[in-house]
Amino acid sequence: KFLRRPLIAGNWKMNMDHRQGITLLQKTVWTLQDANFTFDRVEVAVFPPFTDLRGVQTLVAGDDLPVAYGGQDLSPADEGAYTGDISGAFLKALGCEFVLVGHSERRTLHGEGDDVALAKVQAALRHGLVPVLCVGESLEVRQAGTHVAHTLGQLSAVIGQLDAATVANLVVAYEPVWAIGTGEVAGPADAQEMCAALREAVRASHGDEAAEGLRLLYGGSVKAANVAAIMAEVDVDGVLVGGASLDAGEFANIARFEQ
Ligand code: G3P
Repeated sequence: KFLRRPLIAGNWKMNMDHRQGITLLQKTVWTLQDANFTFDRVEVAVFPPFTDLRGVQTLVAGDDLPVAYGGQDLSPADEGAYTGDISGAFLKALGCEFVLVGHSERRTLHGEGDDVALAKVQAALRHGLVPVLCVGESLEVRQAGTHVAHTLGQLSAVIGQLDAATVANLVVAYEPVWAIGTGEVAGPADAQEMCAALREAVRASHGDEAAEGLRLLYGGSVKAANVAAIMAEVDVDGVLVGGASLDAGEFANIARFEQ
């Protein structure tokens, strides 16, 4: 099924201080290595808090761990008088490969709109980071039945400004807000419906290569018990896991969705 390398990503959110983060990452990787997990086939990435990243870099580089990592956010600016912000350049210097952009918690708690998401995606690209653009609808929008149009709008506001080669390397995470941290999982069919719509929108705007290259993730109450059905959907290339990524055994089992 997989034309694209599956990506299993853990978003730790504001959990795990720098000591706890190291222990969690070590345990997760050891569990996978003990199970002879094929890291070449399935990419595993974590998104720790900023304060953990230096420790994560030291661990990953020192022990040559086969995992990628990224920041949970970045500044749209590159450097300067932006108190409290973190630049994409700093993330890159710490070995980050990815960065989350436009997570629903940034959109709702920090009032970030599509314009901010676009500026952050452009900042990530300037610094050689792969943006993981998060999109998805609220419960209200879902109930109104306009979830596909809403989510495609969030996507096109960003990729409308990007060329096809850039879009082909992008990661987009579909996270229905009503399924985040609630225990409510969108069914595999819901995930597929949206991921197919996202891919077809990319095909229409940027062509086949972009549509076939782009990786689409589902996020929202993913667990070891439901991941296989979600990953079986043809347009789902991976998952973005919140709560369940804080448990090394559970996250390892999610990454082992094929077994
Ligand atoms: O970014 C991951 C996410 O928002 C889903 O969180 O806790 O429902 O898996 P959770």
